[in-house]
Amino acid sequence: MTTGHVFIATSLDGFIARKDHALDWLPQEKIEGEDSGYEAFLSSVDGLIMGRGTFEKILTFGDWPYPKPVIVLSKTLRQDAIPDELEGKVRIFQLSPREIMKTLAKEGWTRVYVDGGQIVQSFLKEGLIDDIVVTLIPILIGEGIRLFGKTDGDVNLKLIASQAFPSSGMVQNHYKVF
Ligand SMILES: NC(=O)c1ccc[n+]([C@@H]2O[C@H](COP(=O)([O-])OP(=O)(O)OC[C@H]3O[C@@H](n4cnc5c(N)ncnc54)[C@H](OP(=O)(O)O)[C@@H]3O)[C@@H](O)[C@H]2O)c1
Repeated sequence: MTTGHVFIATSLDGFIARKDHALDWLPQEKIEGEDSGYEAFLSSVDGLIMGRGTFEKILTFGDWPYPKPVIVLSKTLRQDAIPDELEGKVRIFQLSPREIMKTLAKEGWTRVYVDGGQIVQSFLKEGLIDDIVVTLIPILIGEGIRLFGKTDGDVNLKLIASQAFPSSGMVQNHYKVF
């Protein structure tokens, strides 16, 4: 079975982006001596699944940041939305969370990085998320795009680890999902 894993940063009030998708509130520079574990996490997965919202935002960065294959879930994007330079690196699928996980399992993927607010919520609803690493940024932005939303019921989490980063003020919590 392929498992889903989340590694994401939120404002203290639970947002992953401003309403207009701006990420200016995220720390812009890495502080020496503060390793969030992102590189190690990225090395541990076979690839990423993200929503259209996240994909479209990352395209605005210019440089493609992922050394691993990326699956974009979208009912509206067509394959020609992929820029030429990302051919072979990105695939767009119109499948449900369960269907895409089955497809990737057949391709031999065991661990998937699941990214984007709506996408994380829909994978959580389907019980496809194994664990969540959430890095809390010490800022309140008041409104924006939420990481979590309405759930069908309570989602129980077990805290695996918690780490404070004193220079930046970030706190990283690692939860296992039941
Ligand atoms: N702070 C962080 O660490 C972090 C991390 C990741 C993303 N972000 C930010 O979060 C924002 C995007 O998040 P988001 O919640 O708006 O969008 P998202 O989850 O990235 O994408 C949502 C879109 O994915 C498509 N989709 C396909 N199947 C789906 C399914 N089963 N469930 C839900 N969506 C599905 C839909 O697009 P169609 O209408 O095309 O079908 C939907 O509108 C961006 O601004 C990004 O920069 C921040």
